[in-house]
Amino acid sequence: MSNRRKSTPAIRIDNGSIGPYGARIAGVGHYVPDRVVTNADLAQIFKTSDEWIVTRTGMKERRWASPEMASSDLCIRAARHALERANLKPGDIDCYVVATVTPDYLFPATACIVASKLGAAGKPAFDIEIACSGFIYGLPMAASFIRAGVFKRVMLIGVETLSKIANMEDRGTAILFGDGAGATVVERTTAANDCFLSCELGADGSEPEILYQPAGGSREPVTAESIKLKRDKVHMSGREVFKIAVAKMADTAKTVLARAHLTTQDVRWVIPHQANLRIIEAAVKRLGIPRERVFVNIEKYGNTSAASIPIALSEMVEADRLKDGDLIIFTGFGGGLSWGSVAWRWSA
Ligand code: UT7
Repeated sequence: MSNRRKSTPAIRIDNGSIGPYGARIAGVGHYVPDRVVTNADLAQIFKTSDEWIVTRTGMKERRWASPEMASSDLCIRAARHALERANLKPGDIDCYVVATVTPDYLFPATACIVASKLGAAGKPAFDIEIACSGFIYGLPMAASFIRAGVFKRVMLIGVETLSKIANMEDRGTAILFGDGAGATVVERTTAANDCFLSCELGADGSEPEILYQPAGGSREPVTAESIKLKRDKVHMSGREVFKIAVAKMADTAKTVLARAHLTTQDVRWVIPHQANLRIIEAAVKRLGIPRERVFVNIEKYGNTSAASIPIALSEMVEADRLKDGDLIIFTGFGGGLSWGSVAWRWSA
């Protein structure tokens, strides 16, 4: 056991009462569609350039799902990958949770479809919809279910098929988004080995129009007119989101460290939501964490919203970059507006 680990009490009580259980991540997996869309491809659709996109966002390419592929199809592939890594079967999972803003249908929940298609019909399943913060909200929730003894294993999947709601007439947003899914099996361990150290979550819905899909809900059902005006697609004030994102990622990361009685020196990895390289770099600068301790894969996938952090985590596992005892800060933000960070101890 490393010194870093020894200096940390076995269980934190910031997010719940002390019980006999702790939570750990037993397996992660991901899936991205085969179709690669480069910046040059986008420059064929509207007036943009590889130079502008790389300089302003750090993105070089992203993946887009085929027309017949829905979010649940991506989830299933990512879930199977995570189950395989955890050496588990779909029936070993007690609850399926999907975080997404691009569900198969407005209802029923995509998680119900995923669990059934995996052969686990009958298991509890539901979606959470908190945009790009989906994994950041979902992980503490899954860990809390487990700590409380409600479930032994929770499958948390972040998925998006944002290409389906991108406005191809708006170069300011259409370049940003990609499709993909990342799946995580969170499972019971002993309280002494609990990996969930602390979290800080927040939201402010006073100006939902900063980042939203105006038509399609109860406030503005879809009409022929709204389709014509692209109000069934993503609308965003990029600069507004940018400003808030940097501050919230850095500030909540500081809070979770303080709550867990840790410092930036203890952090081995920051795994941020992959929305914009400039946002990530500004946030970690404000946090005082060197760039080499920050995982970035935005150049390959663009912004995959709720899927970006679990895809990143899965790629880190694949590359064997996480060691037992590593302190990870997951941090993100998105529509809502919403934001948050989670301090998590990696258990191999
Ligand atoms: O997951 C959470 C979701 N959202 C985000 O995280 C987004 C956060 N915001 C951002 O990442 C950035 O604000 C953007 C990348 C979206 C935009 O970058 P920016 O540096 O804030 O650019 P801007 O919107 O202020 O636009 C600057 C210029 C404008 O031209 P003028 O008015 O200065 O002549 C835009 O019309 O760049 C123009 N522009 C483009 N030019 C070429 C906007 N999009 C493009 C484009 N290609 N794709």
